[in-house]
Order: sequence, then structure tokens, then C-alpha cells
Amino acid sequence: MGLDLVIRNGTVVSASDVLNECDIGIKDGTIVVLGKNLPARAGTEEVDAGGAFVTPGGVDSHCHLSQFYDPGPGQEQKTQVTDGNIPAEYNFAGDDYESGSRSAIAGGTTTIMSFANQYRDDESLKPVIKEYHKLAQGKAYCDYSFHVIVTNPTQTVLKEDLPQLITHHGLSSIKIFMTYESAKLSDYQILGVLNAARGIGITTMVHAENADVVEYLTEQLEANDMVQPHHHGTSRPPLVEGEATNRVVALAELMSAPVLLVHVSSALATKVIRKAQTRGMVVHGETCPHYLFLLAEKMNQTGFEGAKFVCSPPLRETSTDLDAIWQGVQNGTFTTISSDHAPTKYDHPNGKMKGFCDHGPHGKFKYIPNGLPGLETRLPLLFTGGVLSGRMSPQKFVELTSSNPAKLYGLTRKGAIAPGMDADITIWYPQDEFEPFRLSNEMLHHAIDYTPYEGFEFRNWPRYTFLRGQLMFAEGKLVGPRGAGAFVRRTPSILGSCTPVVQTMWRN
Ligand code: URP
Ligand code: ZN
Ligand code: ZN
Ligand code: ZN
Repeated sequence: MGLDLVIRNGTVVSASDVLNECDIGIKDGTIVVLGKNLPARAGTEEVDAGGAFVTPGGVDSHCHLSQFYDPGPGQEQKTQVTDGNIPAEYNFAGDDYESGSRSAIAGGTTTIMSFANQYRDDESLKPVIKEYHKLAQGKAYCDYSFHVIVTNPTQTVLKEDLPQLITHHGLSSIKIFMTYESAKLSDYQILGVLNAARGIGITTMVHAENADVVEYLTEQLEANDMVQPHHHGTSRPPLVEGEATNRVVALAELMSAPVLLVHVSSALATKVIRKAQTRGMVVHGETCPHYLFLLAEKMNQTGFEGAKFVCSPPLRETSTDLDAIWQGVQNGTFTTISSDHAPTKYDHPNGKMKGFCDHGPHGKFKYIPNGLPGLETRLPLLFTGGVLSGRMSPQKFVELTSSNPAKLYGLTRKGAIAPGMDADITIWYPQDEFEPFRLSNEMLHHAIDYTPYEGFEFRNWPRYTFLRGQLMFAEGKLVGPRGAGAFVRRTPSILGSCTPVVQTMWRN
């Protein structure tokens, strides 16, 4: 058997083990063998990974690309069917599939899961799935899949679309919102979705924040002229997330349906998830680097710059929350760490400055598009601030950033360096050869004009990123082509967890 590529002598990390001086043999884009001194023939390429960590390519299970019609508060959501291009008149301020996936691959991530957002007036999920395929096709530098955001759970959605999601579309997850005017579902609607998803292998991701509390507090703040960016945080205190998390866990228990709480930011929500898990419920938690490395003070800057750090749930006030998130990472409460890359440019009429223009002398936080860029920095941040800082073992790093998201969302060939898996591989620098540096936004590959991690010190960075055996990123440069990334079909979750026990007597 002639190998196409051998990666030699790396410190190969899986979610359970660290294999020293291990060779990885690759054929036709698939890992076929691990061993010592694997034979090379004429035509076999060899890469020296001596002294370096070699990890499975990152799987980022939460990012927003080409979501160009999210209208924000007070604006109508319009159905816009496209032919695969974002309409020029929209003046898009975010990342599309090209810039977003380019940024992913340059940060060691080889598979992304982004969102296909059902229009509020669509009866079915089919149009948006088709639309997002067109938006992504031929543009991606890494592999991709979609989660479908259900904003209108009609009978067609519940009875026809969801049962076909896996079999027909190769998608096994949906996201629902408890907040945002343009997306939120009532408890009644959430019950319907969970009941439909139960038992058919669909993972329901939930954005848990109490919409009414946010609306009420925002009105109070506006009446008192407390409208600067940092008051975004005041309008969404930890109780907003804690209450909604508690409520959706109860609804999931009623329906015996597995759920995943996305972008968990607070000690309170973490505790609710932990308690549900202890009771034996299949409740997963996802957190994000910004809840591990950033605090609310970032929103409190001169001028309108604080808008760069506005996301939901918001960055928290004190290290109590930050420490609780770290503890949840360490004790297994969190199943995944995703970027929630939800970028908009700062200095752009449809970007963060939208909250400033035409909204009084201080701007108004209510009009700031929510979300932070972070696809490219997710792995390097966790490597420096987690693995190299002793807060996370290399195995835990791989588990949370690659293996678990792959298994949870049914990516059966991703998330591990093992025979039969796709050769999606990230090779880091040997630690003693790496010159620490401070990040500036120009080094990144997204289309966004800032990074929340400007000036952060990085003590390693992916040196080579391979996608199915193809070298895509090497020594700071993109070397693989646009379009190398492909859509990946998914199965139901294969993360080992039991089916939830039916808790209630409401159905026979
Ligand atoms: O602030 C955020 N996270 N915006 C993106 C949309 C979402 O809720 O994930
Ligand atoms: Zn969300
Ligand atoms: Zn004022
Ligand atoms: Zn998000």
C-alpha cells in the first residue's frame, strides 16, 4: 500500500490519549494507519511533526456565515431568495462562506457548522436549506454543514420537514430561540418542536434568554438614557439566561427530548445544566472562548468602541461567572466549545456602528448587531490560554473543540486521528521553536475590521492545516484553493449518552 502522505513523529492527541512520536499514514484523503517508522515510497510526501502537537482539525459547531437577512430590532424581515450571492444592495457587513471558512482553516478548523435561518413567514424549512447550499457551494476552504434555525414551527415543519431532515438533507440538528423578536418561539411552540425532534435523532440547540425581561429592562434603561453599549449587559443580567435555561430544561424534561444549551455565559445557567445532567437528563452545554477570556468591562470604552464586544448572552461583569465557565469546562458540564462567530464589521453602516448612526448622542445599544468574530482565534486561544496555561489537558482540548462536536452532531468521519477518519489534521509548532506574538487584526483572514483579541499574546498557532489530506494552510499562508471544502452529510448524534427516560404520563 503506497501512502500519499506520512506525518512523522508528532505528539498525536485524541480525546483520550497522547501518542508520542507517532506517524500518521494517509491515503486518498483518509487516515489509514498510525504507527512507528511508516514506510514511504516514491511519491509519498512526508511532513516532519517532531516535537509538535498534532490534533484533529477543529470542528466549530456554531458560526454564522452569510446570514444577511437578520434584520435586528424594529426592522421587517423580508423573504429574499437568492441565486447564491448576497444581494449587493444589502451592503453585507459580515463574513460569507469564503471569508469565514478561510478564517476557519487559518485557525486550524477544518469543519464548520453554520446556520440556515428559516424566514419567519416560510411554511417550510426546504427553501432556506436550498438557499444556504447555494450560498456555500464552491466557496468554502473547509468542510461544512448547517443547523436549521426554526423560526416558524408550522405543521409542515413538524410533520414533514423534521422527519426528513436527516434522511433527505443529511442534517441532524436545529436551533431555536427564546429571544430576538425575529426568531423567538413561545413555550407552546418549543414544546411542539421538542416533541417532533424527540426520538428521531435530532439535536435541538437552544438560545436561552428571557425575551420579555430583556424588552422590559431595555425600555427602563432607555427611559433613563442608559443607552451606551455597556448597558447591553445591564439589559441581560445572568438571571435572564438562568431563567430561560431552567425553563427550557423543564420543557425538555416534559418532552423527554435531548437539548443543547448554546453559548452559555453565566454561573447560574451552568449550574442549571449541571443539575439536569446529574438527574440523568440528556442536556448538553456549549460555551465559547469569549466567556472564558473576556469580561463586560470591554463594552465600557470611550466613544462607541464598546459595541465591538456586544454579543448575546453578554460578556459578564465579574470573574465569578468566568471562573464558573472554566469549572464547567474542567468538570465535564460543557460538551463543546464553539466560536459563535457572529461577526459584523465595526465601521460599516450595517455593522456595529448601526447602533450609533441616527440614535442620539451616545448611540443606542438596542440597535447594535449582536455577536463577535472568533472562528480563527478559537483554537489558538484555547491552546495558549487553556493547554499551555495548564487549565486544560491536550486531550480535553481535543475533546471539546473537535471530537465531541463531531460526535454530538453526527459527523462520523471527523474529530479523531484514527484509521478510517478523514485526514483533517492540525499540526502546531514545536513549543521551543515558537516565538510568542501579539495578535493584530491584519493577521487574520476574516472580512471583519477588528478582533476582540487585539493585542492578546499567543504562544502557539497552527502551523499546517490539512483538509482530507490536502495542505490548506502552511506557516501563516493560505495554500489550498477556495472550493476545497465540501458539504458533509450527518447522522443522528453518536455521542454516547442514553436516550432520556420518559418522565411524564401525558402520552401513552
Ligand atoms: O450575539 C450573538 N451570539 N449573536 C449571534 C446569534 C446567536 O444568538 O447566536
Ligand atoms: Zn444564539
Ligand atoms: Zn446620556
Ligand atoms: Zn450564534
